[in-house]
Amino acid sequence: DTAVFQTPKYLIIQTRNKRSLKCEQKLSHDSMYWYKQGFKQLLEIMFIYNNKELILNETVPRRFLPESPDKAHLYLHIDSLEPGDSAVYFCASS
Ligand SMILES: *[C@@H]1O[C@H](CO)[C@@H](O)[C@H](O)[C@H]1NC(C)=O
Repeated sequence: DTAVFQTPKYLIIQTRNKRSLKCEQKLSHDSMYWYKQGFKQLLEIMFIYNNKELILNETVPRRFLPESPDKAHLYLHIDSLEPGDSAVYFCASS
């Protein structure tokens, strides 16, 4: 059964706006991950959290701000959206 939930499933917005993606896991895992896959691009890691602490940041733009209020939740706040931000964003946990 699904135990990692991402909301919203789809998001269509204008450039320059700001949105947040939410991820929740019910597996009591310690680590959570955000990945990005742009059109015809390889899956790339963006952020890794362990116990609410950011332990890997592979994202250069500051427009991408992750937030982990507790071990079960990881948000991705994206500011000043650009066309290149169009992608599939995957959340995972372990
Ligand atoms: C990730 O690293 C970039 C480049 O050093 C930095 O500008 C950005 O603020 C960092 N993001 C977070 C969430 O720490």
